[in-house]
Amino acid sequence: MNTAPASEIDTATWTAPVLSVIVPTFNERDNIAPLVDKLEAALAGIAFEVIIVDDNSPDGTAELAKTLAVHKPHVRCIHRIGRRGLSSACIEGMASSSAEFVAVIDADHQHDEAILPKMLEKAQAGADVVVGTRYSGEGSSQSGFTASRQMGSTLATQLSGILTGKALSDPMSGFFLMRRSLFNEIVPSLSREGFKILLDIIATGNRQLGRKLAIAEVPYDFRPRHAGESKMSALVVAQFLGLIVSQISRGLLPTSFLLFALVGASGVLVHLVVLTFAFEALDFNFANSQIVATLVAMTTNYILNNELTYADKKLRGVKFWTGLLSFYVVCSFGAIANISVASVLFEAHLANFLIAGIAGVVMSVVFNYAVTRMFTWR
Ligand code: GDD
Ligand code: MN
Repeated sequence: MNTAPASEIDTATWTAPVLSVIVPTFNERDNIAPLVDKLEAALAGIAFEVIIVDDNSPDGTAELAKTLAVHKPHVRCIHRIGRRGLSSACIEGMASSSAEFVAVIDADHQHDEAILPKMLEKAQAGADVVVGTRYSGEGSSQSGFTASRQMGSTLATQLSGILTGKALSDPMSGFFLMRRSLFNEIVPSLSREGFKILLDIIATGNRQLGRKLAIAEVPYDFRPRHAGESKMSALVVAQFLGLIVSQISRGLLPTSFLLFALVGASGVLVHLVVLTFAFEALDFNFANSQIVATLVAMTTNYILNNELTYADKKLRGVKFWTGLLSFYVVCSFGAIANISVASVLFEAHLANFLIAGIAGVVMSVVFNYAVTRMFTWR
């Protein structure tokens, strides 16, 4: 490898970091300076850097992070424009590191940075992934969670046990540390959608390496948020369920496809309700009732996909309306694809009417998904 001659490296003032600490942020302005202070105290004596990955927060988190970076050589900021999402932010942060180890920690002080040296030790001793865990041993999540959130978290933990086996007591944790070479190996297969990056890393790692990753845990007390608000939402939950199914299907079905199909199913319901209403209550003739129902269902599908499936590329303003038009057009072709495939199968006696009908629907969902990804949510 071609490295700079030793004389060009000012070793008196610079040491290459051993550990990159990735801090994903969205509206965390008041949290980052005190977090950096805490990290400096916790990691005293370890060569580390802090990489703040901010999605252009309206509160100016990125600006503040860059001001910090001016004064501190071990702090830098990746300022992302036009992108949103916790998993993809963590991935970009880790991808930008050149240290031997990478860690991810929330900006809101809910994770206890004081256990980072212990986590690093365990990774240096050979663990593939070291997880800061809220549930094992003395670690607890009591003070950081409301009762309903605690319930949701417990349920989600059970669900993800399907993927990770019992190797992990807190697979939902957003607090972990790993060797960067392992990250590099699996990153092409990681889902960039949603919140649950650790779960994805472990499921993907197990599959790709053909063995169970060696996982170590370090317990800690989950603290209440320092300042600002949580970004947890229904969208995050939907993306989580999508990730589980996507992993069960061994990555064959991307999360966005599952959400797209789910939205499509909701469209069928909307269609039938509107059809009934137009035909029965408004006394429209059947053809007109069908047209109205189709338009309404396409529109609700579009809005839901824009909010949920493609929240990271959400269309707004004029783009919302041109997107809607392109969605109508694509869905019309999707309907043609549906009818042609079903008719061909049926008429060639390759399937009975039900199977032919299902094949038609599957065809149009796949078609609409693939084509709206090209034209609507690019
Ligand atoms: N860059 C970026 N983009 N960061 C984000 C985004 C985003 O779209 N959404 C959230 N974050 C950052 C927040 O700023 C925070 O630093 C961290 O991700 C966690 O977000 P919170 O809003 O604090 O999430 P939480 O406390 O509800 O969720 C916690 O518990 C989950 C498990 O129940 C986190 O620890 C998660 O990592 C964890 O999976
Ligand atoms: Mn939080």
